[in-house]
Amino acid sequence: CSVMAEEAKKLAAFAAVDNHVQNNHVVGVGSGSTIVYAVDRLAQRVRQEKLNIVCVPTSFQARQLVLQHGLNLSDLDRHPELDVAIDGADEVDAGLTLIKGGGGCLTQEKIVAGCAKKFIVIADYRKDSVSLGEQWKKGVPVEVVPMAYVPVSRRIERCFGGEAVLRMAVSKAGPVVTDNGNFLLDWKFESPHNWAEVHKDIKMIPGVVETGLFVGMAERAYFGMEDGTV
Ligand code: A5P
Repeated sequence: CSVMAEEAKKLAAFAAVDNHVQNNHVVGVGSGSTIVYAVDRLAQRVRQEKLNIVCVPTSFQARQLVLQHGLNLSDLDRHPELDVAIDGADEVDAGLTLIKGGGGCLTQEKIVAGCAKKFIVIADYRKDSVSLGEQWKKGVPVEVVPMAYVPVSRRIERCFGGEAVLRMAVSKAGPVVTDNGNFLLDWKFESPHNWAEVHKDIKMIPGVVETGLFVGMAERAYFGMEDGTV
């Protein structure tokens, strides 16, 4: 990832935290590489402004980040209603439909975002598309119960075309296992779809836990741009 893209992630993350987090907020903390900058900024503001903030993580990674920064860690049992959730995305289209789950954390990310009054997306300029699939070539992640991955993948291919491939781990022989103990399919679609419909239809397939299509959830997206603007 270029220095420029890293700087762009940071700009987006800082702007979102500065504009949407206030004292006494319960904040959903997303997963991935961009959220790292948002947690840095949250921690800075907690120190400097003496903010009282509670964080609800969306993954093992997010939980570690919250703990490493000495922020208050909570969960949906104690805080089922969040003021704001902030998270990255793999791709964002012009209608704020997202592909998420490149890092495998889509289910908890969607649950936490769904509990927040506001869901704010942070990303660098490479994620900004008119329609999904323009930039992100790895497809739509779909979390599945392990025993169902073959029938689910066949059904997706038969109904919607393209190819649904089991995500394999890089550093171990075998599939990626999510924080929920499930497998991931990456559905490489061939053409644009009605994403709300496709999401609903895939979710109805027995064995599917969640899809990485986030439709009608994001209120705003902050993109850090190459020229240093947001
Ligand atoms: C995690 O599974 C994903 O949904 C991430 O939020 C998404 O992939 C964005 O990650 P980056 O911030 O690393 O681009």
